[in-house]
Amino acid sequence: MGVIERYKDYLPISDKTPVISLEEGGTPLIKADAISQKIGEGYDVWLKYEGLNPTGSFKDRGMTVAVSKAIEEGSKAIACASTGNTSASAAAYAARSGIKCIVVIPEGAIALGKLAQALIHGACVIAIRGNFDDALSIVCELTEKYDAALVNSINPYRIEGQKTGSFEVADSLGCAPDYHSLPVGNAGNITAYWKGYNEYKSKGKINSLPKMLGFQAAGSAPIVDGHVIKDPKTLATAIKIGNPASWKQAEAARDESGGLIDKVTDDEILEAYKFLANMVGVFVEPASAASVAGIFKKAKEGYFPKNKSATRKNIVCVLTGHGLKDPDRAIKCLKHPVVVDANLDEVVKEAGLIG
Ligand code: F0G
Repeated sequence: MGVIERYKDYLPISDKTPVISLEEGGTPLIKADAISQKIGEGYDVWLKYEGLNPTGSFKDRGMTVAVSKAIEEGSKAIACASTGNTSASAAAYAARSGIKCIVVIPEGAIALGKLAQALIHGACVIAIRGNFDDALSIVCELTEKYDAALVNSINPYRIEGQKTGSFEVADSLGCAPDYHSLPVGNAGNITAYWKGYNEYKSKGKINSLPKMLGFQAAGSAPIVDGHVIKDPKTLATAIKIGNPASWKQAEAARDESGGLIDKVTDDEILEAYKFLANMVGVFVEPASAASVAGIFKKAKEGYFPKNKSATRKNIVCVLTGHGLKDPDRAIKCLKHPVVVDANLDEVVKEAGLIG
C-alpha cells in the first residue's frame, strides 16, 4: 500500500484523483544501539531508512502526491530542478503515468546512480552550466510560461506527501520522538515532517512534538550562516544548495519546536557515513549521514542532557537516500580491494585467517 492509500484522510486526495503509486513509504525504523551509546545515557536512536523507497530516497512520498495531482489537474508534463534524487523520483513516476518529465540539473554535480535513474526512466535530462539554485529558478520560470507542472518541493503537494514520514515514525514508536534529526538542503523535508507531526497532534494521535534538528553541510549552510551562499560547496551533493526555497518554513520548524539548525563539515559527514555502514550495517548516501553527524556533534557539545528517568528518550534520524546512489563516494573514501594470485594460500593470508 502506498502513502496515498494509507494516509488518504490526511491528504488532498479525492475519488477523482488518479493515484500514481509505486508502493512508496512503509520504510523501516531501525534501532541503532551503536549510535545510542555515543549519544549518552537514557537515549535510543532510531533510523528512518528512506533509502528503501522505490527510487531509493524519501522523494517518492511527495512525488506520488505531486504527480497524481498534476495528472488530475490535466498536466501533460512535469518539470523539476534537482541535485539528483528529485529527478530520479520524478522520472520514475512520470514513466509510470505516461507523462513527459523535464529535469534540469547542475552539470557534473549529480551522483552517478541518480543520473542513471533519470535517464533510464526516460526523462528529458538537461544539464546546465550553473548550480542547483540556478536550475531551480529556470524551472520556476519554465513552469510559469509553459504547460508543465513544477514538482520541486515548493509544490505544496510534495510537502503533503512527505509529511507521511512523520506519521510512520509516530505510528512505529507509538508516540512522537523527543528529537527529530534530518539533513537540510532545499528545506522541504524539515517543513514536511514538522507539518506532519503537528497534524498528528491536532488529530490526537500523539500528545507531544519533537524538537526538530536540521543539519546543513558546512560549505552550503545558508540558514546557519544567515545569508545566501553564491557558490555552495560540499561532497554531499544532494544538499549542495545555497538558497533554499523553504528557508522561512525551516526556520519556523526550528523555532516553533525549540530545536536548531546547525552545520556539519564534510569530514564529520564522512565519519558518520562510514560509521553507519561499518557499525550499524546501513549504507546511505553522504547527505543522509548529515543527520547522524549532526547528533554526534551535538552530543559532543553536551546538547543532550543525561536522562536518568525510567522512560528513555527517542531520537529519530532520517536517512534520506540509499548509499548505492553514490557508489563513487564509497570507493573513493576506502581502500580498493587487494589483488592477489588466484590461490587459496594467498587469499587466506590476506584475510588474516590462522589455520
Ligand atoms: N537528503 C537527500 C538524499 C536529498 O536528496 C535531499 C534533497 C535532502 C536530503 C534535503 O532535503 O531539500 O527537502 O531539505 N534533494 C533535492 C533533490 C534537493 O533535488 O533531489 P530538502
